[in-house]
Amino acid sequence: MIILAIETSCDDTCIAILKIKNQKSKVKSFEVLSNVVSSQVKVHRKYGGVYPFLAKREHQKNLPLVLQKALKGAKLLLGKIDLIAVTVGPGLEPCLWVGVNFAKNLAKKLKIPIVPVNHIEAHIAANFIGRNSKFNQDPFSISWVAPSRPFEKGRTGEQILNSKNLFPAICLIVSGGHTQLILMKEFRKYKILGETRDDAAGECLDKVARILGLGYPGGPAIAKESAKLKESSFGKFQATADFLPNLQKLPRPMIYQKNYDFSFSGLKTAVLYKARDMRPEETKRREFVQQMCQEVQQAIIDVLIYKTLRAAKEYRVKTIMLGGGVAANEELRKQLKLKIVNCKLKINFLVPPKNLCTDNAAMVAIAAYFRWLKRKDWKKIEANANLGII
Ligand code: KG4
Ligand code: ZN
Repeated sequence: MIILAIETSCDDTCIAILKIKNQKSKVKSFEVLSNVVSSQVKVHRKYGGVYPFLAKREHQKNLPLVLQKALKGAKLLLGKIDLIAVTVGPGLEPCLWVGVNFAKNLAKKLKIPIVPVNHIEAHIAANFIGRNSKFNQDPFSISWVAPSRPFEKGRTGEQILNSKNLFPAICLIVSGGHTQLILMKEFRKYKILGETRDDAAGECLDKVARILGLGYPGGPAIAKESAKLKESSFGKFQATADFLPNLQKLPRPMIYQKNYDFSFSGLKTAVLYKARDMRPEETKRREFVQQMCQEVQQAIIDVLIYKTLRAAKEYRVKTIMLGGGVAANEELRKQLKLKIVNCKLKINFLVPPKNLCTDNAAMVAIAAYFRWLKRKDWKKIEANANLGII
């Protein structure tokens, strides 16, 4: 079975082709034949964020080209596709509609079914695409090569997780549009424990980067600057001198509140106020920019990790999964893994490869496959900007 998936919920135009092998046998394996992401970063950079109607126009322009590229990469003709998958929400409504209409036309032309996909569920499903990943539907189990299992140091090779040793799981989805802690009680059964009350984590990074003159997207730029600080002697000195008067400390919003909600807009405001209190030439100083990057990134990581681990303990989960663009952040991945090891909980830690954390359509294809196993007749395919995961 071959699935062609389309993702246009934000500013990346994505098409992937996924092959489900051994369709007739109980154990299936997945192969990503192509995964094309056409970034609109250059178009949106001058606005410091995504401009929806510009993004819509770009998707319309890019989709036919991205389709050609995806087919070429997979060495396939359109006639070989068995199923179309498309992200229907949540996301930017004008952008979602471009993908939905493109998918509908394609499905009609090819006379094949179409499966609507929730973008957040796709970010979670990205955890199940690995090298040589295999899936057994009945009983549910999934195996891939060497995902990280922090409590079994140095373990590599194939690992099998089934409904018994994988669930319940906590999924931390952190992206430009969302920050959600989701309890996954079993396969495809979700409960949102908490979410951001204002800006998403990625949105905060993007806004802070804009204040600091670092451009868009902010997450990778901030990660780069804080890594530079860590490497520099200034950073080493600073790490041992927390009491330094010039250290730019930022708050850790809502960290000790008993709920699982987040709030990141105050961080952006704190950076803005610090910059406002300084002379313009001072705010451009490398030390200031790097310190702010390091602090804002660490403040976000501290809150995310603290709340995720608290939820993991409260719900006695067996797995923590990461997803969304901010999950590509090396420090978040590293520090969360370390904390899981240090708290001596026997918890699996899954995180997609970096290129499958940021928006892509391979994650949409795999989420669609899991949906399609349960339901095959999707008639009304509509974009819904505020689509919930349950
Ligand atoms: O999931 P995604 O690609 O799109 C949405 O669904 O929103 O996430 C994009 C977000 C942006 O805010 C971007 O700054 C952030 O993910 N991001 C990162 C990194 N790469 C992308 N944040 C921190 N570190 C990164 N390496
Ligand atoms: Zn996303």
